[in-house]
Amino acid sequence: MNLQGWIIYNGNLPGDKFLDFAKWIQDAATRKGSETTIYKNNELFAYLGRGEIDLLQQEKQILPDYVVFADKDIYLAKQLESLGIPIYNSAEAIQRSDDKIDTYQHLARHKLPIPKTIIAPKIFSNAIANTTNIELAIHRLGLPMIVKEAFGSFGQQVYLVHTKEELQAKVENLQATPFLFQEFISSSFGKDMRLHVVGNRVVAAMKRWAIDDFRSNVSSGGIMEAYQPTDSEKELAIAATNAIGADFAGVDLLFGPDQSPFICEVNSNAHIRNMYDCTGINVADYIMDYILWE
Ligand SMILES: Nc1ncnc2c1ncn2[C@@H]1O[C@H](COP(=O)(O)OP(=O)(O)O)[C@@H](O)[C@H]1O
Ligand SMILES: [Mg+2]
Repeated sequence: MNLQGWIIYNGNLPGDKFLDFAKWIQDAATRKGSETTIYKNNELFAYLGRGEIDLLQQEKQILPDYVVFADKDIYLAKQLESLGIPIYNSAEAIQRSDDKIDTYQHLARHKLPIPKTIIAPKIFSNAIANTTNIELAIHRLGLPMIVKEAFGSFGQQVYLVHTKEELQAKVENLQATPFLFQEFISSSFGKDMRLHVVGNRVVAAMKRWAIDDFRSNVSSGGIMEAYQPTDSEKELAIAATNAIGADFAGVDLLFGPDQSPFICEVNSNAHIRNMYDCTGINVADYIMDYILWE
C-alpha cells in the first residue's frame, strides 16, 4: 500500500515547534512506507468558483490520499474534506478541540466528569461587559476560581482569580473574548496527567508538575515523568477523545479530590516530542499505523 500523504502545519507561527511535529509525522510515515509532503497552510489557497471547489498552488500537485492536519486552519481542513480527502483529525474534531467551550459542552453531553463550568454570555466587541452576574458564578463555583478563554494554549489564557474584585476586573478585561468560569480543582494544583489516545487506545502517558504555578504546563521549569494510568483514567481519556470525534488526541486529566479524575482538555493537535522525551514512546508511529491501516 503506497498511500501518498500531506502534512499541513501553520506557516505564520513563529518558532519551529509545529514544523517539528510535521517532521515527526513525516519520519513515522516514511518508516511505514508512505511518502509525504509537508505544506504550510498558506501555500494552499482554498478556491471556490461557480460549481468548482479547488486548491490553488504555485505548482499544481496531485491531491493526496490522506492529510495529517497539524494546524487549526479549519476552513482549509473543510476545503480538503470537500475535495473528498480524509483528514486526521477531522475538521470538526479540530474545531471542537480548539474551542474549550465547545469541548466542555460535548464532554458534558456525554456525561463525562469535568470541573463545574459556567459559559460567559456572548458580548459584542463594541458593547460593555456586564458583571452583575458574577455573584452567581461565585456562588456556584466558589473562590478561588478558574477563568479560561475559549481559545488558548500553553496555559497562557488560563487564570486563577482569588477575589470578587479580581474576577470583576478579569471579566471587564476579557470583554468580547469568549471565556468560561470554572471550578478550581485544588487537589490538582500545579499538576495533571496527559494521556495520549490513538484510535481507542491509550498509547502513552505522563504526569506533569509545575514548580511554582497552578498550571502544570507553564513551560518554564516544569517536570514530566512517565505515568501508568489506571483503567478508569484510560477509559475516561478514550471517552473524551470519542466525545469530540477525534481519531487521536492528547487528553489532560486533573486529579480530583478523591483520586477521581476530571477532564481538563482534549488536544486534537497535541505535541508528541515531550511524550517521546519523557516515555520513549513515539506517538507518531501509532498515529501513522492508525491512518494507514485502520
Ligand atoms: N479547573 C481547573 N482546576 C485546576 N487546574 C486547572 C483547571 N483548569 C486548568 N488547570 C490547570 O491549567 C493548565 C492549563 O489549562 P488548560 O485548560 O489545559 O489550557 P491550555 O490549553 O492552555 O493547556 C492545566 O494543565 C491545569 O494544570
Ligand atoms: Mg492543556
